[in-house]
Amino acid sequence: MEQRRILIGVTGGIAAYKVPELVRDLSRAGHAVRCVATPEAVSFVTPLVLQTLTGEPVRTALLDPAEEGAIDHIALADWADLYLVAPATANTLAKLAHGLADDLVSAVALATRAPLLVAPAMNVNMWRHPATQQNAERLRERGVRFVGPDAGELACGWEGEGRMAEPEVIAATAGLALGSRTLAADVVLVTAGGTRERVDAVRFLGNRSSGKMGFAVASEAARRGAAVVLVAAPSALATPPGVRRIDVESAEEMREAVLRELPVSTVVVMTAAVADFRPAAPAERKLKKEDLAESAGMMLELERTPDILAEICKEKADRVVVGFAAESHDLVAAARRKIARKGCDLLVANDISASGSGFDSDENAVHFVWPAGEVEELPSLPKSEVAAQLLDRVEKLREPAA
Ligand code: CTP
Repeated sequence: MEQRRILIGVTGGIAAYKVPELVRDLSRAGHAVRCVATPEAVSFVTPLVLQTLTGEPVRTALLDPAEEGAIDHIALADWADLYLVAPATANTLAKLAHGLADDLVSAVALATRAPLLVAPAMNVNMWRHPATQQNAERLRERGVRFVGPDAGELACGWEGEGRMAEPEVIAATAGLALGSRTLAADVVLVTAGGTRERVDAVRFLGNRSSGKMGFAVASEAARRGAAVVLVAAPSALATPPGVRRIDVESAEEMREAVLRELPVSTVVVMTAAVADFRPAAPAERKLKKEDLAESAGMMLELERTPDILAEICKEKADRVVVGFAAESHDLVAAARRKIARKGCDLLVANDISASGSGFDSDENAVHFVWPAGEVEELPSLPKSEVAAQLLDRVEKLREPAA
């Protein structure tokens, strides 16, 4: 197993006394571990203990000439594959949320490009305070992962949420946050969202796709170390960390972006709900009722859009191509016909008539349909988990070529 590097930022909470156990759990899992600490943290755990367990000196000051001379804080930030702040006090969460950098732990958080995992630990009222909750929310939106806090008896005498998660749970979450790097050699191209086809200057034909499934696939592929390009139809979702996003509107724009990115892609996952038809002659200006006879209806002539998936499957080479299908009835039979027609390696079919699945839902119940007709039926799962299951299959398909 490739050794991964975890930098722990220890801040000044009583739970810091559990960091030695955390270091041991991470080391046992095969990771290289280093620690940095705030001056307050060393009241709860001595640098000597951490140094002995990690085999590395522990830096505590931001601008100490001797410490900076040994390894400067930017080099530490660059060293890490994962930055784990544990315990994270309310004060440190506030600093991280706002980009302050007045101690070593927060300065490293700004300087590092590694994913950030935080394990908050504090009094229950401090955790529940709207200021702390807003800071946590802001960090989550930025892709920062949280583990805990757990509920229980607190060192301050209160009961409730605020205990640092158990070291073994933090260590396991760190393993997940690091990602497996199993797609490090791949360039993954993902399409997401519903295209918009122009009717006139203000109107379009669209569909209900939210883009969540495609964004989840892009996010998971990046977590596994792939270079990821996300061709996104209009969507309010935030770009996942480590993903290059290309915004498009129509099927034709999506096709152009996909064809441009295709030559270097090794995996293509087409989750987008691409319009099959578009207005044949979109109007430059806004269509006005007064241009029509009183009470007259209106005919909108539609023409076919290019089938991007079918087109790229014609020149697939050794690329893995995955299609999606949204079906409202006769799911498996329709999906089998569709994979034969499109020529992709795997078709992910979801039943849009089932509740709690499909469009705009956070969960999805899918069937994986293979070219020879075999079908794997998955239970309803969060879209992030569907993305993980899908990429597990993609990795298997990539194996023979590797
Ligand atoms: N797709 C595409 N280009 C299109 C239409 C669809 O690339 N113009 C892709 C979608 O991204 C998806 C798959 O094809 O991966 C399935 O599309 P879908 O529209 O469900 O299938 P169709 O073959 O168009 O069949 P139908 O709409 O009749 O179910």
